[in-house]
Amino acid sequence: MIDIKGITKSFGSLQVLKGIDLHINKGEVVSIVGPSGAGKTTLLQIIGTLDKPDSGSIMVDGIETSNLSKNKLSEFRNQHLGFVFQFHQLLPEFTAIENVMMPAYIAGVKPKEARAKAEELLHFMGLSDRATHKPNELSGGEKQRVAVARALINNPSVILADEPSGSLDTKNKADLHQLFFDLRDKFGQTFVIVTHDETLATLTDRTIHLKDGLIINDEKPSETTTI
Ligand SMILES: Nc1ncnc2c1ncn2[C@@H]1O[C@H](COP(=O)(O)OP(=O)(O)OP(=O)(O)O)[C@@H](O)[C@H]1O
Ligand SMILES: [Mg+2]
Repeated sequence: MIDIKGITKSFGSLQVLKGIDLHINKGEVVSIVGPSGAGKTTLLQIIGTLDKPDSGSIMVDGIETSNLSKNKLSEFRNQHLGFVFQFHQLLPEFTAIENVMMPAYIAGVKPKEARAKAEELLHFMGLSDRATHKPNELSGGEKQRVAVARALINNPSVILADEPSGSLDTKNKADLHQLFFDLRDKFGQTFVIVTHDETLATLTDRTIHLKDGLIINDEKPSETTTI
């Protein structure tokens, strides 16, 4: 599903990624952990085609993304990837349901169809009664669930999440994490999640430890090794 080979990336004289190889299967929930500055966000952005590597190859759904033009890349992201960030990044002037529908509009889905899918997703998130509210009328947890619904609307192959629960309290955090596993169990949704949350990391199918630009450990929780 995702196949990454030999990814390197430098910012000026700072080499942030020093040769990353990674294979992620469909339906896996993978966490990426590591100290601040280890290159987690950089790696996620490169997987998400929001940034380009200096060298190496990235295949997502059998498509080599590092060769795509700018226009093709936006189309690719819209159709194959879903993003969830630490801060929801919902558009403030649009309602929850309009925010969820947005990527479908961009993909050219008929408004009626997009609305029906958005309603279904918001229902799944337990947010049907918040659908017509704007982001500033929603709680932090609700906003993140709307962001997850938005990430899901075009049936992405993978959802890439960077500290998705980083701004939430304990209860909302636990609910959001449960939602990821529900989506994996019910729909086979694949997730790659950068997190500092140890509880989440131990729940995921695999935890990738990044340090100084390299994967130093790639483990299933049952095979815990010391680092
Ligand atoms: N656009 C950029 N220009 C220059 N340096 C950058 C840029 N983006 C990231 N860096 C540097 O690259 C290194 C890795 O950054 P990255 O954001 O990937 O770390 P991270 O593992 O996500 O850290 P954190 O846990 O704090 O979010 C850091 O030293 C950072 O300062
Ligand atoms: Mg980061």
